[in-house]
Amino acid sequence: MSFNASAYIESSLGAIKEILKPEESDKVLAACSGGVDSTVSAVLVARALGKPIKAVFIDDGLRRKNEPETVVKLLRNLGLDAFVYDAKKEVLDALKGKVDPEEKRKAFRDAFYTVLGKIIREMNARYLVQGTIAADIVETVGGVKTQHNVLEQLGIDTSKYGFKVLEPIKDLYKPQVREVARKLGIPKEISERKAFPGPGLAIRIVGEVTWEKLEILREATQIVEEETKDIDSFQNFAVLLDLKATGVREGKRVYGYILVVRVVSSEDAMTAKFVEIPYEKLRRISQRITTQVPQIARVVYDITDKPPATIEYE
Ligand code: XMP
Repeated sequence: MSFNASAYIESSLGAIKEILKPEESDKVLAACSGGVDSTVSAVLVARALGKPIKAVFIDDGLRRKNEPETVVKLLRNLGLDAFVYDAKKEVLDALKGKVDPEEKRKAFRDAFYTVLGKIIREMNARYLVQGTIAADIVETVGGVKTQHNVLEQLGIDTSKYGFKVLEPIKDLYKPQVREVARKLGIPKEISERKAFPGPGLAIRIVGEVTWEKLEILREATQIVEEETKDIDSFQNFAVLLDLKATGVREGKRVYGYILVVRVVSSEDAMTAKFVEIPYEKLRRISQRITTQVPQIARVVYDITDKPPATIEYE
């Protein structure tokens, strides 16, 4: 059945107005990452209320290079009252010593929502708007992995953090969210932006997350994204393994990290295929990474579809 984005927007605006009145626009905070899901959610709520709402970008240290500044600018251009909140310490402290993927996800979730709860209390607000979509819920409830933003569906009482959640697009899949974004006039930069997971680089570092590893992965991620930007894909990224390998540079032994390059095509993230990248391109990526990120000694390309793998590593 074809999806009618205009009708969806109409009914969504109506549903939001049932919950909130325009004079309650200061009772709402939207958690925004700059991705299409959270942006569409925030814009829908702001449109329903006919007023700008506050939108926070949580700078948790797990984002790509220069992301906080870029995202805040994009959100402000959409009429949202956007700001950055520095939560690097809270989030990295929560992840410290954690190596199990599910433990890392839950530690991230708890730190993230504790910070949001604090901001919401300081604002004297009540509602958190977030961009949870159907795929997040299906995979979490189905036991594949605990996506950070699935709360009520897991029976988590969000009053412990101090807010109620508003999830205007929780029954949509990614292609439909993009259609809604286009219909809302959200610029291409956001409507067509590749998915980036809520727990960010934390689930692209296998094992314990440290600042040193985050900085290495940020550099490698930038190279992978730049080199694959012309290749049609759903996601294109780098993963830092908890493994090192021996190499040789200028005749001397080196011992550095192994980095995985992963580029996949997908419609809705429920299944995915690795993209057949030309070898020439792969060689260039590997050469750039091992030259520009000296802590990395080896680069491998992931040739696993979903299923049996998932898109992310943790
Ligand atoms: P997987 O790894 O399960 O990922 O194949 C499916 C899609 O979901 C994204 N992803 C997440 N997004 N919070 C999010 O907001 C999460 O905890 C999370 N885990 C995975 C992933 O990037 C892919 O698009």
